[in-house]
Amino acid sequence: MTETPDSTFRQELNRRRTFAIISHPDAGKTTITEKLLLFGGAISMAGAVRARRGKSAASDFIAIEKQRGISVSTSVMSFEYGDYAVNLLDTPGHEDFSEDTYRVLTAVDSALMVIDSAKGVEARTLKLMEVCRLRDTPVMSFCNKFDRESLDPFELMDHIEKHLRMTCVPMTWPIGMGREFQGVYDLASREVIFYQPADKGRKNATIALSPDDPALDDEVGAKAADKLREDLALIEGAAAPFDRKAFLAGRQTPVFFGSAINNFGVQELLDCFVKHAPGPQPRETTTRVVEPEETPFTGFVFKIQANLDPSHRDRMAFVRITSGEYKRGMKLRHVRTGRDVGVNNATTFLARDRTITEQAFPGDIIGLHNHGSIRIGDAFTEGEALKFTGIPSFAPEIFRRARLMDPMKSKSLLKGLEQLAEEGAAQLFRPLFGQDYLLGALGLLQFDVIQSRLENEYNVRALFEQVPYQAARWVKSDDEAALDRFVEQNRDRMYRDLSDTLTFVANTEWAINYAADQNPKLRFLKTMEIA
Ligand code: G4P
Repeated sequence: MTETPDSTFRQELNRRRTFAIISHPDAGKTTITEKLLLFGGAISMAGAVRARRGKSAASDFIAIEKQRGISVSTSVMSFEYGDYAVNLLDTPGHEDFSEDTYRVLTAVDSALMVIDSAKGVEARTLKLMEVCRLRDTPVMSFCNKFDRESLDPFELMDHIEKHLRMTCVPMTWPIGMGREFQGVYDLASREVIFYQPADKGRKNATIALSPDDPALDDEVGAKAADKLREDLALIEGAAAPFDRKAFLAGRQTPVFFGSAINNFGVQELLDCFVKHAPGPQPRETTTRVVEPEETPFTGFVFKIQANLDPSHRDRMAFVRITSGEYKRGMKLRHVRTGRDVGVNNATTFLARDRTITEQAFPGDIIGLHNHGSIRIGDAFTEGEALKFTGIPSFAPEIFRRARLMDPMKSKSLLKGLEQLAEEGAAQLFRPLFGQDYLLGALGLLQFDVIQSRLENEYNVRALFEQVPYQAARWVKSDDEAALDRFVEQNRDRMYRDLSDTLTFVANTEWAINYAADQNPKLRFLKTMEIA
């Protein structure tokens, strides 16, 4: 049968897998990313991703990243694995992170959760999972570092179930741990895969053996063999079987055990992932649901990265394609401004380098160059006036007041802050009464980024002063009188954000909760759709 353009489109659509890795810092995200890229043939040498932690790396775009040897902004890595085209959206894994980290999760169809098996589910993972919950994103789990002393695997699964309200389905099961880690049992193929500590990045040799085989005792020792048989009996009796529907609905998470640094257990994970993780999913808009199979191109911006070339104020808008096919040179409508633009130089993100895109499909991410005209949440279509929903803004947790070093430059400061806030670098709040603008962020590093960008791009030197605030909520109500009363009572705590939404800041979370208790007619919002 000859292939029609339509069947090519469908094939391309169906083989897309777009996901992100969520984890607490140090759980092993960088290590796993590197192994995934190795399997995908996207890098040929272990250490290429880790090099990012050194002083320079391909995906470090902006000066501050290089300075600190970390990747501040989320980037995209695309690679082929078997028949699949995989897009891995990276989330910053260090202590400081920003709304980008959260928003990237709105652009994926599934997520991979990496857990340090000695620690279980940690704080950052919990927070990121909250965002996955908003859209019931399917999640696969990898319990890493089994070559070290770990929590008991049953305990680990309990921990995940309790904290993340998902049923765990073991896909592999560890034999021993730490020095006595011997391998995993693959519950699907009913084989034992032996662990052989490998040089970083080298693929492990594996031997298959059924657990019923008496030879298992010889291979792993009678004690470990008996323990495995016992564990398996327990699992067969108690654990739910894998149910793809439940996984796709975000109710079940398949769990793998291994050691990323030794490249053990990662390939089983990747194989299961490409097979079962969902392809491009529909996306909601204010008017209708956009299905990925629709022919007209649609997409939304989930991230802006600036300063690719500081002298040009060059910015890259990351667009997640939600339907249709992108072809180089096509005209796209920038819905918010109503302008039609010819797109000749969209970028894709092959893990090796960035290239100009000829073609891209739903699930892919393309980068559009611009000079500040594109904002987070913007839609691109072939004419339809769509507005995508579900791209959240999060109430900041750290606040600073910007103080100008050179009083002649207050206009430039405000312009710089406004533009950087529009890009999503931090949030800007204008006081209802008074002069001092407030900046809010989720990670401390965001202030450093803003400070250095103000200097480099806007030629403004500013200092960021500590303020006593630690919490904020957007405040809404249908009862205007109640809202006015609240504003009057809290004059020095009331601000408006860039979208003009009323915002209340407080010294503690407790004060916010108290205000909410005292003002039942008001809604205090911690997350809000980008307007
Ligand atoms: P992150 O991106 O989630 O922050 O974690 P990353 O991969 O950087 O891993 C954090 C540390 O844990 C690294 O050690 C890494 O080598 C180690 N690690 C990752 N996977 C495993 C594993 O399966 N077993 C063991 N034992 N360790 C693992 P580091 O000392 O911080 O860095 P490095 O000296 O290895 O570069």
